[in-house]
Amino acid sequence: MSRRKQIYEGKAKILYEGPEPGTLVQYFKDDATAFNAQKKAVLDGKGVLNNRISEFVMLRLEEIGIPTHFIKRLNMREQLIKKVEIIPLEVICRNVAAGTMAKRLGLDEGTKLPRSVVEFCLKRDDLGDPLVAEEHIHTFGWATHAEVDEMITMTLRINDYLRGMFGGIGINLIDFKIEFGRLDVTMENGSVAHQVILADEISPDSCRLWDRETDRKMDKDRFRRDMGGVTEAYTEVATRLGILKEANNVHAPKLSVVSNDD
Ligand code: C5P
Repeated sequence: MSRRKQIYEGKAKILYEGPEPGTLVQYFKDDATAFNAQKKAVLDGKGVLNNRISEFVMLRLEEIGIPTHFIKRLNMREQLIKKVEIIPLEVICRNVAAGTMAKRLGLDEGTKLPRSVVEFCLKRDDLGDPLVAEEHIHTFGWATHAEVDEMITMTLRINDYLRGMFGGIGINLIDFKIEFGRLDVTMENGSVAHQVILADEISPDSCRLWDRETDRKMDKDRFRRDMGGVTEAYTEVATRLGILKEANNVHAPKLSVVSNDD
């Protein structure tokens, strides 16, 4: 690890310089944080599970035509990704009121929304990632009108697909957060354009996932709300997706993976 140049360390991931120009290695840590890192813990095996789940989701999304930063998984904790300029916005899509929306608008958690809602938050830890309006995005130049339109279109398509994918394994997708990046693309005439592509990760750290039969939480709210059984729940998500062979191996060294190429 120390041989590679570290580009960035976030709360749950580290980015290293990749083997080729324009690539990075994304390393998934076991660290869990909540409430802007006021609450912290190390959850044995979480990084391995999120690496696998995010790989699975990104590959499925590529199949339906969503461009993503994912190139390939390298090992249990690392994936090779395209280097992008991250757009400084968290894009949240909600199907059911929960979390900050339930609190902000005084809704009962679990209230089904009449339609899916897309929200933007500014990626600023020091400000607690505040909710922003599209007017703010344009006024302060965080993204262009075209980029905002592309992000909304892709987010709703991702939502439709993921609702079906999780629905098929008995899980309701309550909400999720995604991030986008700008990829430099050289055009035929030699000019360079930016393509907006999906970046970061999609995992139980960044989604709310409730069991369809019981409403049991299978996501990071188990950590945020001290409910326990966090890696067990993530393991169950991976198992239902067909990524893991068994539901009872939650620790990284013992994880039983379907493809044994690590
Ligand atoms: O906390 P809130 O209700 O706004 O979260 C909405 C969704 O976005 C949840 O699925 C949560 O896990 C995710 N999220 C995230 N990272 C953040 C904020 C929210 O992954 N910094």
